[in-house]
Amino acid sequence: METLNRIAGQGANGATMMPIIQGVGRAAIEIAAVLRGAVFRGVLGAQGTENVQGEQQQKLDVLSDEIFLDEMRSTGHVCAVGSEEQEDLLVIDEYTSADWLVLVDPLDGSSNLDICGPVGTIFSIVKRKTANSERPIESDTLQAGVDVVAAGYVLYGPSLMLVCSVGEGVDGFTYNPSNARFELSHPDIRIPQSGGYYSVNESNSAQWLHGMADRLVSVRHTQKLGMRYVGAMVADIHRTLLKGGVFLYPADSKNETGKLRLLYEAIPMGYLLEQAGGKAHTGDMPVLDVVPEALHQRVPVYLGSVAAVEGLIS
Ligand code: AHG
Ligand code: MN
Ligand code: MN
Repeated sequence: METLNRIAGQGANGATMMPIIQGVGRAAIEIAAVLRGAVFRGVLGAQGTENVQGEQQQKLDVLSDEIFLDEMRSTGHVCAVGSEEQEDLLVIDEYTSADWLVLVDPLDGSSNLDICGPVGTIFSIVKRKTANSERPIESDTLQAGVDVVAAGYVLYGPSLMLVCSVGEGVDGFTYNPSNARFELSHPDIRIPQSGGYYSVNESNSAQWLHGMADRLVSVRHTQKLGMRYVGAMVADIHRTLLKGGVFLYPADSKNETGKLRLLYEAIPMGYLLEQAGGKAHTGDMPVLDVVPEALHQRVPVYLGSVAAVEGLIS
């Protein structure tokens, strides 16, 4: 069975990305173990602190962030990490001259933790713009999706999955506990171009801007979409990739720029969707064309099969 090593043979950057993606795999295994034992270790529930977005941090948000950062440090190839859980760029002092920066949502969908629902980790990797002799700075992370070199997610569900791309299509790997390897279970994922589901927090529909509620009614009829919503972007996107349809988090009158974060939610998922033959749009432009202005910037997102996304944005 092929393993994560398959990445090393893909495209111009596969071999270079390999150690960092293996680091993501190690972090995934550790985070999965922490999640499984959380209730016994007293690490479920709120940490009592807020992150930069003003959201209550869960203890597991903070723990996952620490595990991910440690594994990125251990690769020796990452000079800095931009994380949902850290206001500022986190420079890895031991490796300030390394080439790569990683953007991460260490634990996505953390409101699912209390109900033993699926959660995830989302990441993307960019090359620094500053010289290797300098200390990396926040503007090194502000790169459009078209300049991303690798991206992916981990899904903590009934199986532990790592889905990623280095720009040569999308592969899904499932952790095999009997040999402690991520094995290739879903080679070259292509999103179905018809059918599937629409996935959105529809309780916000009265506040959606740009007539989105009416557009969605029309698209779900013409595209014959069912409805599913987990409330964890990783799980909702994973279903969208495999079954088709569309995941959306539109702008609304409370959040005019949407809820999801450009650098560690929209761009990595947009990159994967496009690599799988789908479409990723903000309503104004392709997700991958947005030039980021800030580490924690938000954007509306429409991610999915081409026809479903086009029906919503046109
Ligand atoms: P996070 O837990 O990293 O803050 O992300 C939560 C996100 C995403 O996973 C999900 O799609 C969305 O928030 C759910 O938001 P609603 O509760 O507003 O539906
Ligand atoms: Mn998230
Ligand atoms: Mn998160």
